[in-house]
Amino acid sequence: MIQADSVVTGCRQVLTCAGPIPKRGAALRDVGLIENGAIAGRDGRIVFVGPEKELEKNVRIAPDAARLDASGLVALPGFVDPHTHLPFGGTREEEFALRIQGWTYQQLAAKGMGIRSTVRKTRGIALADLKSLCLERLDSMLRHGTTTVEAKSGYGLNLDDEIKQLEAVREAARVHPIDIVSTFMGAHEVPDEYQGRKEDYIDLLIHTVLPQVRDRRLARFFDVFCEEGVFSVEETKRLAAAAAAAGLGIKIHADEFVPLGGTELAARIGAVSAEHLIAVTESGIAALAGSPTAAILLPGVPFFLMQDKKAPARRLIEAGAILALGSDFNPGSSMIENLLFILQLGVFMLRLTIEEAINAVTANAAYAIRSDAEAGSLELGKKMDVVLFDIPNYFFLAYHPGVNPVRHVLKNGRLVVKDGRTVYST
Ligand code: NIG
Ligand code: FE
Repeated sequence: MIQADSVVTGCRQVLTCAGPIPKRGAALRDVGLIENGAIAGRDGRIVFVGPEKELEKNVRIAPDAARLDASGLVALPGFVDPHTHLPFGGTREEEFALRIQGWTYQQLAAKGMGIRSTVRKTRGIALADLKSLCLERLDSMLRHGTTTVEAKSGYGLNLDDEIKQLEAVREAARVHPIDIVSTFMGAHEVPDEYQGRKEDYIDLLIHTVLPQVRDRRLARFFDVFCEEGVFSVEETKRLAAAAAAAGLGIKIHADEFVPLGGTELAARIGAVSAEHLIAVTESGIAALAGSPTAAILLPGVPFFLMQDKKAPARRLIEAGAILALGSDFNPGSSMIENLLFILQLGVFMLRLTIEEAINAVTANAAYAIRSDAEAGSLELGKKMDVVLFDIPNYFFLAYHPGVNPVRHVLKNGRLVVKDGRTVYST
């Protein structure tokens, strides 16, 4: 009989979100519900998940095992945020205040605000301070139930500052319980000093920055903002080919404002994901249907930019695409690190069912950053990353928005949030 060194008992409900993963179509409505459940682990991995009455039959609990009484709580896999711009300097509340008065995101960008203003602030901050900011933000994510995060660079836009962002993330990951998957996004924008010389900037990315990122193993993925006025489909294709040759998986910010066809390109080149998709066309939807390329939707953006147009989530699900949700946490278009709130926006704004939204921030989100062998579902052998919510049943995850019902969080079987507060030691 297998021995456990960590056990959670008394759960009112356990949602395993178990596979097959990724989930498409009707399978997205299956959250693997277990009533009156328990979870046990050994060395940080799950060795049992099921009805509590079967626990003792299957598992020998070590006398000194860490026991967590989760009476009355609802357990889910730790949330996986598959799209964040975590390491940024400064904030943009003045720009936000102007947007409330009617200025558009694009108008403000043209006035020197937008991405390029965060680039200035990110270039001006020291590595150690950027790392501290990452740690504070990661703590907040953890308190809202996120245990795995993707983090993009893209506010440095030169060799030193892109590397600095990725180093800050790596250093933060060394001391923080959250698992972080890094993405090099030097192709987020063309920096001021290269305005009118985009070709030279693409050359810099391909021939100078990318080789350093590869040699120092600073990122697992490469991302590019394929958008009118930023990088064209042709340029995206060239950048993606260079990144793939350097061994990075490809992600594309596609069809956010103008449908250029970045989604179709993502599917054609076997990208890991196409992200945003607010303006995706029927041909983009068709390209994702049945494709292994995940659709990561970011409802925080139309919410935060107060735009009526939203990604066609229901059409994507009907077509058979792999749907995930991410926060897009960044200071300009989604100052939201709380993935539970994003789950709620998935329900309220994209008309996902509660079950679909849950799978979109767990199993499918893990798939969308190639972490599904380890995270995103409560299954034997996977990491014992568990969030315990103080709610009567899982419907309350969406039914009762605006509060944080996270009571405890376990990461690798260890309690890292207790009674809503972080308790890990670094
Ligand atoms: O994902 N789309 C491009 N980049 C970000 C916005 C970044 C910013 O405004 O600083 C996004 O929405
Ligand atoms: Fe983004």
